[in-house]
Amino acid sequence: MAKSRIEYTCQNCGYHSASYLGRCPNCQAWNQFVETKKEAAKVSSKATPSRRMTTTGIRQPQHLKEITSTKENRTSTQFDELDRVLGGGAVKGSLVLLGGDPGIGKSTLLLQVCGELAQKQTVLYVSGEESPTQIKMRAQRLEIDSEQLYIYSETDMSEIRQQVNEMKPDFLIIDSIQTMNEPELDAVVGSVTQVKEVTSELMKIAKNDQITVFVVGHVTKSGGIAGPKILEHMVDTVLYFEGEAHHAYRIIRSVKNRFGAANEIGMFEMKGEGLAEVKNPSAIFLDERLPNSTGSAVVVSMEGTRPILVELQALVTPTAFGNAKRTSTGLNTHRVALIMAVLEKRGGLLLQNQDAFLKATGGVRLDEPAIDLAIAVAIASSYKEKEINQTDCFIGEIGLTGEIRRVTQIEDRIKEARNLGFKRVYIPKNNLKESLRQSEGIEIVPVVSIQQALNYLF
Ligand code: TYD
Ligand code: MG
Repeated sequence: MAKSRIEYTCQNCGYHSASYLGRCPNCQAWNQFVETKKEAAKVSSKATPSRRMTTTGIRQPQHLKEITSTKENRTSTQFDELDRVLGGGAVKGSLVLLGGDPGIGKSTLLLQVCGELAQKQTVLYVSGEESPTQIKMRAQRLEIDSEQLYIYSETDMSEIRQQVNEMKPDFLIIDSIQTMNEPELDAVVGSVTQVKEVTSELMKIAKNDQITVFVVGHVTKSGGIAGPKILEHMVDTVLYFEGEAHHAYRIIRSVKNRFGAANEIGMFEMKGEGLAEVKNPSAIFLDERLPNSTGSAVVVSMEGTRPILVELQALVTPTAFGNAKRTSTGLNTHRVALIMAVLEKRGGLLLQNQDAFLKATGGVRLDEPAIDLAIAVAIASSYKEKEINQTDCFIGEIGLTGEIRRVTQIEDRIKEARNLGFKRVYIPKNNLKESLRQSEGIEIVPVVSIQQALNYLF
């Protein structure tokens, strides 16, 4: 019998090392290594999780032409905002991971979805975090009493598997992956080994029995889903539920989707009676705009295939002591620093002795090159103390020489701006040709460089 020996495993990414390390060379996380036993291979080397997951049983290369294609079978969750991020509904037999900070509303969302799904199909909601009574209380608050919704408090995967085999539900919810355990492994609950094994087991359930599985995963302080990063590689779809604790708005975002576009977003509002869909996010982001204020510019940002309008705010004030401070909420600080440098060098704004505070309003996080121009305009507006017209909006990426670069999906952006009552949109000159098709009812101002844009505006 082969001897088992000690090794060290990174709890963040699953990297193995023969000795203890302070920092993981693979994922760069600190203090994540724990002692694990390297098991003498328990199962045959052929039975790796991915092989065990094979659904077809066919182990030979097939000619592409001979493979029959089937259209994926989707079910609507009855929440358009969620259907969109899933790529048009939940795909039968897929494994969806829903990540997010504790208390953000993951369990609430899934329970509401279950309430809808269980009107027609069988749903098994397994919770390792709350008792059936707690879930019942929440369900009452959410006014859910669907016939075919089963609640099951359990953390032992072998019991869960047995129940699934007997009940054959259409949907299985696991809340949360970190509380589940595979009893035959002697690893701690929530450890890399456990999470990996439980996920691979759930993948088998999803693929072999064609059950749609939703799995809740907690997010660590650094923002990753607690447990191995490989978890994200194993599942079909990764959704993040995010929002600020002090805001009622929640955004659900697909960061990976084997059955649809990544980076789609959906928006919800947390209310006393649960989560409500927000059908028109732009209206909300622009709702609290103060008329005639300086340092504010509206951008049309694409989140997946959906254009949303967001107000960007800048406050530029002289530095009191020493180094100038640059802070941003919802925007990438490096991008802001770069744009300020371009404004200084190419736009002639003296910003080095100015503190700058930037914010994307409404608790959204924007990370797209097309927001550059609006950031620059907001900064310049605050610096010069000159306001921007209420009905202007800005689209464009800024290059290091101060040029305004082409962006994607310009037509959709302009259409959305016009729908929300904007009268003028500044766009990159190189996008002019496509945008002319949308020019009815909105003035299009093509700009080549940041200098030119500033000259127009101030
Ligand atoms: P929860 O779904 O338990 O979060 P998670 O599963 O992500 O940890 O959400 C809990 C929070 O939501 C809690 O702070 C209370 C709030 N909440 C409401 O505001 N309204 C509601 O109807 C419900 C059920 C919860
Ligand atoms: Mg929960």
